Amino acid sequence: MADFPDMGVSRRGILAGGAASATVAVIPAPVQAQPSPAAPPPMMAVDFIVNGERQQLKLDTRTTLLDALREHLKLTGTKKGCDHGQCGACTVMVNGTRINSCLSLALQHQGDEITTIEGLGMPDNLHPMQAAFIAHDGYQCGYCTPGQICSAVAVLKEIEQGVPSHVQADITRAPDYSNIEMRERMSGNLCRCGAYSNIAEAMAQVAGAKA
Ligand code: FES
Ligand code: FES
Repeated sequence: MADFPDMGVSRRGILAGGAASATVAVIPAPVQAQPSPAAPPPMMAVDFIVNGERQQLKLDTRTTLLDALREHLKLTGTKKGCDHGQCGACTVMVNGTRINSCLSLALQHQGDEITTIEGLGMPDNLHPMQAAFIAHDGYQCGYCTPGQICSAVAVLKEIEQGVPSHVQADITRAPDYSNIEMRERMSGNLCRCGAYSNIAEAMAQVAGAKA
């Protein structure tokens, strides 16, 4: 081992000094006080009508309408696709108007009337739109389908009420039940299986129009 006589130190001495300083570096800092456990989230009561039945829930104030339906009321027909307003799988109707339930807090719906796919119809008593989706193969995997059907029912109502769309040549005139109207108004409901043409045909059948 080489020494450094003109500096009055040996290599062994330098190594020993380094080890000592390393030991100093790992001395733990004084124990910090541990944060207290998180406070429980604030809860609030909400009272609304779902598929004709009054529901009273006490929820974490951050609960979305989608999670209230699926996790608290076990209405799992309404699907969670993206959970941030991009796919339409969570579409339900609130007081007759379609919304993305993942973008809405449950507590905002005090007193509202909410309709999910289960409220439109069940296998032994299908809504005409559900029957038309079956007749026209308007689905493949079916994951987007509850949202598509809720949206489709609301779209026909919007056209009937004269709500304008981006594809109307003249928004002062009543919209029609054309294929392009259906497709434009359904553009917020994505289908990864690509059943769009058959969905438009199902809607046209219910509207009594030509797809
Ligand atoms: S889950 Fe709500 S828009 Fe996709
Ligand atoms: S039927 Fe599969 S995503 Fe639409």
